[in-house]
Amino acid sequence: MALLLGLEFDEKRNRTASHYVQDEEFVYAPIRTIERVSNSIATVYNLEVEEDQTFVAAGNLTHNCVRKCPFDAIRIIGLPEPLKEDLVHQYSKNGFRLFRVPTPKTGQVVGLLGPNWIGKTTVLSILSGELCPNLGHYRRTRPYWDEVIEKYKGTELHDYLEGLVAKDLRTSLKPQYVDKLPKVAKGTVADLLKKVDSQGRLDDLAPRLYLDSVLHRDIGKLSGGELQRTAIAATMLKDADVYFFDEPSSYLDIYQRLEVAKVIQSLSKEKYVVVVEHDLAVLDFLADTVYLLYGSEGAYGVVAQPRPVRTAINVYLGGFLKEENIRFRDREVTFEARAPRRDWNAETLLRFDRLEKRYDDFHLVVEGGELKKGEVVGVVGPNATGKTTFVKMLAGEETPTSGSIAGTLAVSYKPQYIDSVYEGSVRDLFVSTVGKRAESGWFETEIAQPLQIRGMMERPVNELSGGELQRVAVGLALTRDADIYLIDEPSAYMDSNQRMAAAKTIRRVMENQGKTGLIVDHDVYFIDMVSDSIMVFRGEPGTEGHGEGPFPMREGMNRFLKLVEISFRRDADTNRPRINKLDSRLDREQKDAGEYYYALA
Ligand SMILES: Nc1ncnc2c1ncn2[C@@H]1O[C@H](COP(=O)(O)OP(=O)(O)OP(=O)(O)O)[C@@H](O)[C@H]1O
Ligand SMILES: [Mg+2]
Repeated sequence: MALLLGLEFDEKRNRTASHYVQDEEFVYAPIRTIERVSNSIATVYNLEVEEDQTFVAAGNLTHNCVRKCPFDAIRIIGLPEPLKEDLVHQYSKNGFRLFRVPTPKTGQVVGLLGPNWIGKTTVLSILSGELCPNLGHYRRTRPYWDEVIEKYKGTELHDYLEGLVAKDLRTSLKPQYVDKLPKVAKGTVADLLKKVDSQGRLDDLAPRLYLDSVLHRDIGKLSGGELQRTAIAATMLKDADVYFFDEPSSYLDIYQRLEVAKVIQSLSKEKYVVVVEHDLAVLDFLADTVYLLYGSEGAYGVVAQPRPVRTAINVYLGGFLKEENIRFRDREVTFEARAPRRDWNAETLLRFDRLEKRYDDFHLVVEGGELKKGEVVGVVGPNATGKTTFVKMLAGEETPTSGSIAGTLAVSYKPQYIDSVYEGSVRDLFVSTVGKRAESGWFETEIAQPLQIRGMMERPVNELSGGELQRVAVGLALTRDADIYLIDEPSAYMDSNQRMAAAKTIRRVMENQGKTGLIVDHDVYFIDMVSDSIMVFRGEPGTEGHGEGPFPMREGMNRFLKLVEISFRRDADTNRPRINKLDSRLDREQKDAGEYYYALA
């Protein structure tokens, strides 16, 4: 028998519903109908399950849970006792519960860090005043702000909420998925931005976000990075007191991630700023204070006490919350302070000549090189310097203007931008592309489980979220039988746990099967975790690009980081790489010594 968020399902009831599935932690109940109601931030679902009960679930949260469970079932889970006092919001009798809520602070960038589906959307809805927390009284149909404000009397949150309710605080949000911007906004970038620029700040902001050259471009014709910067600008230009940025770094290269971080930081001097960011190196640089969120995805989320960003990320990677005695990761995540010395005796898989590709406006040269069996090559470089073009040449999707690639190899390719036009379930997709491999034990343990694809198998591909689609695409690419695996920007839209799991999965598949991987990504921690060696692209973005390598890790990281003028120091307690402040003593010392990433020799 399991305790189901206070509702007990006894043995008998479990037995009457013939296809309940039960594992150590969860009970799943089949769903009869799903009714969907949406407001501007959250989507609310009424779920009628067999047993004639209705569950109300909110946000992306339970929505995901529902879809993740086998047989379209709802997942039901027990809850830690001592938290009950801190219940902030509960969507229904058995719906998602949020315990505690972060307090925005002026003069600080407040970060939220935790897996997807653990309450970040609920937190943002509450802090933006869209959702009045019900303090657990889920039957209430109208908001009781007075009670909420009273509950937090004497805390900083009290003043914040009071301001929200009195409408003294106006909010502005940059949503997570910027790809949707062209669907809701038409015209040029300048049209869009001028509309929200009530204080005439566009002229000042556009150059700081490198938008000058695209102001007259149609929104439908922007690259991912340009869309991201446009969305950030639109959010910032809006005259508000509280600014929320949900994943400001997707599609940007590391240099731009840090430029955006600086702009957001300057905003926080006078305003409230809350960010959700999954690139840990960027979060570390961007945020001052971070709230970790933990719990059970789709069931409940707990907001831990605030910590300075350095400690918060260390605790997150360490996986243990001392004050609450909660372990949320089996093994701590570690980094090597010294470059790994790996002697590659491995056979060469592929040799390529100096390759050249000419488009009307862009010219790419990649110096000749070779890839070894079992090797994972990270590919790094600024936006629009030809990384994807190079990968496409290896994949056979583009022909080099000059130069050739020796031999014929079986290639498995995950493109940078994936869309979900496929009609059918995730399982259909796997079966139709990789056949029986998707039914093997190997697939279950090496791919589906670590990438958390298992629970999605029966869902329609065209209804997956960006992060879910990404995991399916990476899983699919790794499951194909090939000699070389080309994976372009796998980290986009994954949360930081999923990024770490994906990095490990890619490595394991390459190592165990003696295959070769080429992984393009902008997340430095991801590249560190996944790569044996590094290829570096540089050039004049959008005009000309130059690729070189693979180089050993130390040399590759140094070449790349020198290019973008960013150096990393090591955290004294954990060896975790941390971005140096430009022109700080360490930054200068390391740059002088030519050591941008690994510990000084
Ligand atoms: N088929 C094409 N025709 C014309 N120009 C193209 C084509 N494909 C790419 N380009 C241009 O080539 C340049 C390099 O693009 P590419 O996608 O290879 O960059 P990237 O290094 O992968 O960038 P990012 O980090 O943003 O993914 C860009 O300016 C792009 O607009
Ligand atoms: Mg690319």
